[in-house]
Amino acid sequence: MTLRLLPALLCGLFALMPLVATAVDAPHAASPAPVPAVPGNGLALRPPMGWNSWNHFAGRITAKDVRAMADAMVSSGMRDAGYVYVNIDDTWEGTRTAAGEIRANDKFGDMKALADYVHARGLKLGIYSSPGATTCAGFLGSHGHEDSDARTFATWGVDFLKYDYCGARDLYPVTLENQQALFRRMGAALRKTGRPMVYSLSQSGDFDIWRWGPGTGANMWRTTPDISDDWTSMSQRGFRQLDLTVWSGPGHWNDPDMLEIGNGGMTPDEYRTQMSLWSLLPAPLLAGNDLTSMDAATRDILLNREVIAVDQDPAGKPARRIEKQGDVEVLVRDMSDGSVVVGLFNRGDRPAPVSIPWQRVHARFGSGAHVRDLWAHTSRTETSPFHAVIARHGVILLRLTPMAAARILPSRHA
Ligand code: GLA
Repeated sequence: MTLRLLPALLCGLFALMPLVATAVDAPHAASPAPVPAVPGNGLALRPPMGWNSWNHFAGRITAKDVRAMADAMVSSGMRDAGYVYVNIDDTWEGTRTAAGEIRANDKFGDMKALADYVHARGLKLGIYSSPGATTCAGFLGSHGHEDSDARTFATWGVDFLKYDYCGARDLYPVTLENQQALFRRMGAALRKTGRPMVYSLSQSGDFDIWRWGPGTGANMWRTTPDISDDWTSMSQRGFRQLDLTVWSGPGHWNDPDMLEIGNGGMTPDEYRTQMSLWSLLPAPLLAGNDLTSMDAATRDILLNREVIAVDQDPAGKPARRIEKQGDVEVLVRDMSDGSVVVGLFNRGDRPAPVSIPWQRVHARFGSGAHVRDLWAHTSRTETSPFHAVIARHGVILLRLTPMAAARILPSRHA
């Protein structure tokens, strides 16, 4: 296992290389022309929500753990809050039968039985593969077996595929043409099965994938190298998305990687920043922690239904940055009910004051607004301007309704 996981370490290094060569915030050099989307599969009309095994378990994940996570998703209330995908990442893959069919390794055994277990709990099962002969962690990839593997996934009852270019880097040079062709090939194979499966592409944001992802049939695509459980990694990836939101929307989402909330490397303020930022963008919410041992702060963050409602707003309109005051950034997102969500983020290392006239958020808030604080769970009426101090690396997330509308719709914000 140690040797087999060596490629995963290398994959981590590959993922870091772009960080070394160019800052994550740097603009991309080559911008390929947008590619027309293939007809949508009707899935992921809102950013997918669920859990993925990689951030916490990496190569240690087993079927027993997946069952435990499925149980915890139900008992913790996560399923009922919208987290439905239970996604197995790399290292489940075994060998092929004489007929070329892929089989799970001994850690997983009977995948159909596992899918049945997950489905019986009202959840959906996700799986991982690569266009390479091997995956990023050195396990069996789908190269030359795309149709067969897609059929096998469909037979097992898989509902979501993460397809990672990393493992194909040896076999095919990392070119735009190779990536497009290989991602399209699996996209077509999935469609041929007739089973609805969310198609999630994984690479590091190479070749401005947001411009051509929909042309492969994908529902989401990673826009950054692998996230790690620290402030710099998370905040750089998250804030960088603000330049890319035009490419993201219902059925086709930018994916700045999975959540690290609850993994222990960041403070509750920093984890609230990840949850708030991913929800404002909006981005998929794939938890990456051990769901069987969540502390109260982790539960409060992952299960904050008012913040989840921002992420899952049906219109899928992206947030925009309206102001920078030193380390403070002010993000605004229009909601489909006419309210506006404002995220006041402090990217600095000390508490920072912020002052903002509500008119800058929207002319409708000229004289003030009804304000719901989505982390404090309090409501009040604010006259303009709004003043507050934001904790180091923290966020204040507010949902604003014009005062007149607040009088008409008191129950929505009670
Ligand atoms: C790459 C991906 C990660 C994870 C690993 C698995 O690094 O970016 O998210 O899937 O591969 O090997």
